[in-house]
Amino acid sequence: MTAPAVECRALCKSYGDGALRVEVLKGLDLAAAAGESVAVVGVSGSGKSTLLHLLGGLDRPDAGDIHLCGEPLAALSGAALSRLRNRSIGFVYQFHHLLNDFSVLENVVMPLLIRGGDRREARERGLAMLDRVGLRRRAAHKPHQLSGGERQRTAVCRALITRPAVVLADEPTGQLDRATAEQVTAEMFSLNRDFNSTLVFATHDQRLASRLDRVCRLEDGRLAAKPQ
Ligand SMILES: Nc1ncnc2c1ncn2[C@@H]1O[C@H](COP(=O)(O)OP(=O)(O)O)[C@@H](O)[C@H]1O
Ligand SMILES: [Mg+2]
Repeated sequence: MTAPAVECRALCKSYGDGALRVEVLKGLDLAAAAGESVAVVGVSGSGKSTLLHLLGGLDRPDAGDIHLCGEPLAALSGAALSRLRNRSIGFVYQFHHLLNDFSVLENVVMPLLIRGGDRREARERGLAMLDRVGLRRRAAHKPHQLSGGERQRTAVCRALITRPAVVLADEPTGQLDRATAEQVTAEMFSLNRDFNSTLVFATHDQRLASRLDRVCRLEDGRLAAKPQ
């Protein structure tokens, strides 16, 4: 049997000390197979972003194990973790984190260039990706010249350009109107379908959650399956 694409066990994470200590994750378990799509729902402050940051190797847990594509994150050096992130993970942040000194196209193709890809091919793939979300004409603009929804679409292109095995998306449609949300999620679903990518979305969007294979509720630091 192949290892789950995303697996974590007994994950614990707290912030702060003493009276200010907040225990966010309290022994959380999650496993998602290759090609599976999972929605993580829960009230604001329940720990959805914390969970995604840990799964994406952007932060370390206090206790517990995380395996991504069979690799234990805790055992990886900084360089190996960066490589795994570049190769296997697409992260769509709640706030887009685009680089303002670079054009829209440059932002989108950055993950391909970081891994040493051919510039011309990267450019073509980047333009094709922007085309699919209706942003080809904005390729030469800088992120600050775009609307919030256009920036979010750009960030989604950047996350998907490497066709990652795992897409972690934090409220991917949170800032978008319905039509734009539809374009963005269509891209993520086509990746899921065409490349068997695993999707883990933190979302408030019931419509989006109901389209994924499974919905889990994050409550009191743990995940519980939620009947659809
Ligand atoms: N860096 C931090 N320092 C202190 N507390 C934090 C930090 N990040 C998140 N928290 C707290 O952890 C809890 C979970 O936050 P978060 O994971 O952002 O929840 P969600 O994404 O579900 O809204 C919240 O109570 C939040 O205030
Ligand atoms: Mg959040």
